[in-house]
Amino acid sequence: MIPQWISNLVLVSPLQLQGTVILLFQPAEEAGNGAKRMIGDGALDDVEAIFAVHVSHEHPTGVIGSRPGALLAGCGFFRAVISGKKGRAGSPHHSVDPILAASAAVISLQGIVSRETNPLDSQVVSVTTMDGGNNLDMIPETVVLGGTFRAYSSTGFYKLLQRIEEVIVEQASVFRCSATVDFFEKESTIYPPTVNDDHMYEHVRKVATDLLGPANFRVVPPMMGAEDFSFYTQVVPAAFYYIGVRNETLGSIHTGHSPYFMIDEDVLPIGAATHATIAERYLIER
Ligand SMILES: *[C@@H]1O[C@H](CO)[C@@H](O)[C@H](O)[C@H]1NC(C)=O
Repeated sequence: MIPQWISNLVLVSPLQLQGTVILLFQPAEEAGNGAKRMIGDGALDDVEAIFAVHVSHEHPTGVIGSRPGALLAGCGFFRAVISGKKGRAGSPHHSVDPILAASAAVISLQGIVSRETNPLDSQVVSVTTMDGGNNLDMIPETVVLGGTFRAYSSTGFYKLLQRIEEVIVEQASVFRCSATVDFFEKESTIYPPTVNDDHMYEHVRKVATDLLGPANFRVVPPMMGAEDFSFYTQVVPAAFYYIGVRNETLGSIHTGHSPYFMIDEDVLPIGAATHATIAERYLIER
């Protein structure tokens, strides 16, 4: 059955429409910087605006959500190797202890966000792994620690990257250790913040409100997750929006990264109509 809202679609004569709509699918979206390579291959040449839709288990089926400005954080990962000198734990003065150096580094890393960053500029540094082996009687030669960092502005993001390296290297040297920090730049795991252009956001809000009614549009809070679409937002005016797929009767209540993830398929015509109307009205009104 065709839902009632289909009748809200604006029909225009072909003469009113001028322009080309390009559909981009996202290769290597979860890791590998697919969008960056798409841009490198010319996907955005002559493109003047770009829009993306993403399912959300947080909003009921068919509800659209977005916000102007920064919507998702920039994301990076780091792994540090702190090197000391292996030795018997009973005679610590004959060794150089990377465990103590790593511990101090973990504590000091927490000072970057809490003491150096504007509290209104949200950032995250999380150390998620620390490995010094498993010998209870030996001070290890090295400790490997790593984690992730997030920020909403590109300047904040690269400042954070620089400070993570400085804090680990210098804190290691306090305890006579040396350290190297890898940010996996070559493996393409760095994602910039996803920032919605004010006008493109407003266009999405207007289309969603006209098509689905004001009750079906929400201004959503920013999130510290990251998104490959961010690369596109750096190149052309862009808007990224969510469409709800949550239906508790069906059980479509799990995040996109859950093994239980599923969608309420009733969302498909709503999402298709919204996305198509965003493109159509953009061409009419530009
Ligand atoms: C959830 O899905 C069921 C089964 O398709 C449907 O009957 C119900 O109307 C849906 N609920 C909402 C809130 O969309």
